[in-house]
Amino acid sequence: MLSSYLLHLSLLSLTLPPPGFNFDSACSTTVSKLSIENVTVFATQSVPAGTNITFPDSDPSCQPAGSSQFVPEDTCRITMFVSTSNRSGIHMETWLPRAWTGRFLSTGNGGLAGCIQYADMAYGSALGFATVGANNGHNGTSGAPFLNNPDIVADFAFRSIHTNVVVGKEVTQTFFGTPHTKSYYLGCSTGGRQGLKSVQDFPEDFDGVVAGAAAADWNHLMAWSGNFFLITGPQNAPTFIPINDWIGFIHQDILNQCDTIDGVQDGIIEDPDLCNYDPSDLICGSGSNCITATQAETISEVFSPFFINGELAFPRYQPGAESITSVLLIGGSMFTFTADWFRFVVFNDPSFDVNTLNASSWALAQDLDPFNISTFKADISDFKNRNGKLITYHGQADPLIAPVNSERYYNLVSDAMQLSSSELDEFYRFFRISGMGHCAGGVGAWEIGQTLDGSADDVSSGSATLDPDRNVLMAVVRWVEEGVAPDTLLGTKFVNDAPTQGVHFSRRHCRFPLRTTFDGGDNTLPDSWSCQ
Ligand SMILES: *[C@@H]1O[C@H](CO)[C@@H](O)[C@H](O)[C@H]1NC(C)=O
Ligand SMILES: *[C@@H]1O[C@H](CO)[C@@H](O)[C@H](O)[C@H]1NC(C)=O
Ligand SMILES: *[C@@H]1O[C@H](CO)[C@@H](O)[C@H](O)[C@H]1NC(C)=O
Ligand SMILES: *[C@@H]1O[C@H](CO)[C@@H](O)[C@H](O)[C@H]1NC(C)=O
Ligand SMILES: *[C@@H]1O[C@H](CO)[C@@H](O)[C@H](O)[C@H]1NC(C)=O
Ligand SMILES: *[C@@H]1O[C@H](CO)[C@@H](O)[C@H](O)[C@H]1NC(C)=O
Repeated sequence: MLSSYLLHLSLLSLTLPPPGFNFDSACSTTVSKLSIENVTVFATQSVPAGTNITFPDSDPSCQPAGSSQFVPEDTCRITMFVSTSNRSGIHMETWLPRAWTGRFLSTGNGGLAGCIQYADMAYGSALGFATVGANNGHNGTSGAPFLNNPDIVADFAFRSIHTNVVVGKEVTQTFFGTPHTKSYYLGCSTGGRQGLKSVQDFPEDFDGVVAGAAAADWNHLMAWSGNFFLITGPQNAPTFIPINDWIGFIHQDILNQCDTIDGVQDGIIEDPDLCNYDPSDLICGSGSNCITATQAETISEVFSPFFINGELAFPRYQPGAESITSVLLIGGSMFTFTADWFRFVVFNDPSFDVNTLNASSWALAQDLDPFNISTFKADISDFKNRNGKLITYHGQADPLIAPVNSERYYNLVSDAMQLSSSELDEFYRFFRISGMGHCAGGVGAWEIGQTLDGSADDVSSGSATLDPDRNVLMAVVRWVEEGVAPDTLLGTKFVNDAPTQGVHFSRRHCRFPLRTTFDGGDNTLPDSWSCQ
């Protein structure tokens, strides 16, 4: 079990609560001691290790009926509501582990969702963090709650995480009778954007931040995502290509042209920046496993950078990233998040026809930039000066957010702060994870400890390793607390992605701008690769 595993690691050297602290009594009495402005405490629940908890009060789009979350370690769960204005507020939870390390962790959200990510809560608390999560100011996965309520948009843009952290730290201190030692953040996608927002505008909230596949430059991202429908057209258009063609013979043709650029034929395009795919070989006019010249043009446009009014707005979709998830962007309809964002925020009109979105809509959204949701501020000196550490990562086969966007942010910070890569290395490192999809999954060595992955197996089998070389969260902890920065992240690919079935291969992912480079030998061994 994890608990015995924990004790072997110096990193988890315990900062236990004061002498006389009684976890069980704290769990039953903390509610009566909490008096925080704007906070209503709903319930406290003592959750013993090994429990599957259910969420009868959650929105079904967040937690489908019958779903549950395995909780690997003893936890005291406190649920609260915090008002953020007279017409908005967040539902938040604080999970306080019996085996507390003194650390604090905030989790994030995904998409447009107002869903607490319980798998991340279970993961953080099992690793000994006092862990918080919030519903981002609304319940459910839809953007409809934004309609006519800019305060709910403000919660989504920045206020939910910040409020959650301020209140969560106070709850943690009341519970344990002593403040936390260091504060961390772990999130991906919208959660990655939330991590960057904290670094940019709330630099005092965290000592260490892990921001994966960040949905940064949000307005342009919404436009880029929506623009694919303008490229592909609907399913009956001559420009449209069925998803099975994308993930079938087109994907194969991309691999034929680009898989071995890195010297290894393994289905992983190590650095898709080097892949300049040319679809013209597939043109046949008719027949199977081939495309028309018009469809070839669609492919080229999908893999081209996105411009608004002549200005580069978002990087290209990476060749090789096409997968079944790509259907959300190139499946012949308007991307749902873009549709909701424009209907309920930009135009604030539920009857707006999202099929008429066009280049001028894209420009309008960027001008509006509600509550600075763009999250693309380049000067992060305040975070640096507080000695904060930032790790970003991005799957190089991400089918939803172009991974080059994370390179772009890195370069933006570098330019704005006039810092070279080796100077940025002091507080900000970006890792390109080859063969990883959106936040998780894929053909590459994508397991980097970013999530519990919802499965009890991960923790009880010990594969949710705490080794900071293999676990991005523990890597930022080591960086903050011991000053040892990660040079690489050692990713694992499990057989069938099932930790119980053993390791298929591992690879050390290099930090940008270095490139993970094959040196020869057995390509499944990390030592056969180096950073160039
Ligand atoms: C928890 O749920 C998992 C998967 O749904 C199941 O395999 C396991 O037996 C459950 N454990 C308990 C203690 O109910
Ligand atoms: C939102 O979800 C929380 C549970 O996370 C629930 O307590 C609350 O009643 C929900 N609010 C609405 C308006 O449905
Ligand atoms: C409580 O909420 C109000 C807005 O409803 C806000 O002005 C005030 O700052 C909040 N108090 C704290 C301590 O956050
Ligand atoms: C809510 O607060 C705003 C100011 O922030 C005020 O204009 C509005 O009248 C208030 N609404 C209600 C229902 O109290
Ligand atoms: C874009 O759509 C708007 C309506 O949302 C319309 O007024 C405008 O004419 C359109 N622009 C172009 C270039 O089609
Ligand atoms: C957005 O950021 C700018 C520049 O940092 C600032 O001046 C402005 O007040 C912010 N706007 C909002 C709504 O937070």
